[in-house]
Amino acid sequence: MAIMEILKYPDQRLRVVAKEIDKINNDIKKISMSMIETMYHAKGIGLAATQVGIPIRLFVIDIEQLDENPNPIVFINPKIILSEGREKHDEGCLSIPGYTAPVERASKVIVKFLDLEGNSQELIAEGLLARAIQHENDHLDGKLFIDRLSPIRKELIIKKLKKEMEKSL
Ligand code: NI
Repeated sequence: MAIMEILKYPDQRLRVVAKEIDKINNDIKKISMSMIETMYHAKGIGLAATQVGIPIRLFVIDIEQLDENPNPIVFINPKIILSEGREKHDEGCLSIPGYTAPVERASKVIVKFLDLEGNSQELIAEGLLARAIQHENDHLDGKLFIDRLSPIRKELIIKKLKKEMEKSL
């Protein structure tokens, strides 16, 4: 296991639409373990394979990561089969560090996915977990949370990011 490099905006690999996983082999298990380690290391609550430059439909989430009992969930080939309600809440992303903005999402989702054993799972999620699932699922489609902001707010964040990148050159 190793800490992986998390791609940062505007890396174009973040825009790739990820492919379905057809076989859960040892590589997939190793990638999942490294992603969980990387997520904890970065103090995030979710990480999509797209963010570490591997365009496969897999993400990991642990909304309790700050607790003493880690409880990571690996989602393979996730599909959100039901979305209900709307709510707006501040959101951030490990690929856009230092920025948060209120994003409107469904308040409740049902997600179908495979676990690492290849078993089909169905999870009903609300609140932060529902938000994290939608955020990570967006990553698999090459979407970032800033894409869901109003054009003005998105432009503002991009301008600030560009300024910062120029400074660090
Ligand atoms: Ni993210």
